[in-house]
Amino acid sequence: MQVHEHTETPEKVLPPAERSLVLVGLMGAGKSTVGRRLGNALRLPFHDADQEIETAAGCSITDFFERYGEPAFRDGERKVIARLLAGPRHVLATGGGAFMDPQTRALIKRLGFSIWLRADISLLMERVTKRPTRPLLKNVDPRATMERLIEERYPVYAEADLTVDSNGGPHDTVVQQILNHLASLGIKAAS
Ligand code: S3P
Repeated sequence: MQVHEHTETPEKVLPPAERSLVLVGLMGAGKSTVGRRLGNALRLPFHDADQEIETAAGCSITDFFERYGEPAFRDGERKVIARLLAGPRHVLATGGGAFMDPQTRALIKRLGFSIWLRADISLLMERVTKRPTRPLLKNVDPRATMERLIEERYPVYAEADLTVDSNGGPHDTVVQQILNHLASLGIKAAS
């Protein structure tokens, strides 16, 4: 196991306006791009869990999967997300499988405000085929894999605090939609 993280998290439950905002959803949904822009709009730091895992492990996610396998990746992912959520308020883009892990999901529910970026299969496939870096899709039928993941994961992603549809329009439209929802809940830019 190559990822070493501090996993202690505070026990207290935070009000929504003090929670980190956690983007969940499938590969290609736009979590990193939307997350970065959301962070800018809210004047909050942005973290990308996949990038943090790569930094902690000292290798790419593809190499990590090849060397240590998916269970080790999930373990590292759980620790990285726990460490980030224990820190100051921020916007966090998670990898597509993170919210499927029961422990990570419970932690996000306790410490974060989760936002599911929902997208249909054609949009997801259009985006993921542009950057062939996802180990789960390196097989003969990535579309069938994506269909299976949609079936397995969408009912779980639906447990997120907020669902926003990403219909292939500009990312800024999605960001604005999220900001409108957050404002109605009293969640605004950091001062
Ligand atoms: C995964 C999604 C990826 C990355 C890893 C596994 C998944 O992140 O964490 O390849 O299980 O869906 P993105 O959703 O950012 O592509």
